[in-house]
Amino acid sequence: MDRTNSKEQFVHSVFESIANKYDMMNDLLSFRRHRAWRKFTMKKMNVQPGDTAADICCGTCDWTVNLAQESRQGRIVGLDFSENMLEIGRQKLDKLGLNGQVQLVCGNAMDLPFEDNQFDYATIGFGLRNVPDIGRVLSEMRRVVKPGGKVVCLELSKPVREPFKSIYYFYFQRILPFIGKIVAQKYEQYKWLPESLAQFPDHRELAQIFKDVGLERVEVYPLTGGVAALHIGEKGK
Ligand SMILES: C[S@@+](CC[C@H](N)C(=O)[O-])C[C@H]1O[C@@H](n2cnc3c(N)ncnc32)[C@H](O)[C@@H]1O
Repeated sequence: MDRTNSKEQFVHSVFESIANKYDMMNDLLSFRRHRAWRKFTMKKMNVQPGDTAADICCGTCDWTVNLAQESRQGRIVGLDFSENMLEIGRQKLDKLGLNGQVQLVCGNAMDLPFEDNQFDYATIGFGLRNVPDIGRVLSEMRRVVKPGGKVVCLELSKPVREPFKSIYYFYFQRILPFIGKIVAQKYEQYKWLPESLAQFPDHRELAQIFKDVGLERVEVYPLTGGVAALHIGEKGK
């Protein structure tokens, strides 16, 4: 088994096993900041009625729901490789009456099952950190958006300013996995969170990867002292 495969398999097993607690743990571990980051992201995207989007690594569909509500009648597709995460998302869409507008697809972000130039937006929320090849996933997202369309990534990032940086890393690396162990009875799965960030580029390096895959007019917004970052890049016309 090569490393690419083993990372995918490990990540897949993590999300299959934490799916039913994912939303609650997201609120708890981020002190609900993820809601503010999502709101800020939607404001910057300025989705118009009828716009179409593919939400890659959609998980339990929080961002997918926001996209569907903003675009009203636009075609929205959510893609994830964890059936258990998608099932929670499916229930959310059912409750909100959005399942006619949103299609959920079980698939791999590394190899998107969509034709070229299909969507106004391709989004990825807290997913890029988990994939084996960031450049490949961003290239795939660029491929499926229309010329002039946007690739948008909301992801955890790396604070740079002291003393916030040290306090944050103490919480993230030492305390957070124990909260995961006590509240969700999963230690290894939550230990993966800081490990996945350690291997992930900072917001400047990620902006460079956006440019390297051919995205233009790249905008970067560090959030909450750099704990998260929003990146937006455009596919040239
Ligand atoms: C941290 S969750 C984020 C879920 C959601 N986007 C959100 O904003 O809450 C990461 C998701 O990425 C999915 N994922 C990770 N690697 C993937 C891959 N290679 N292909 C498809 N989905 C993947 C996982 O199954 C999981 O649902």
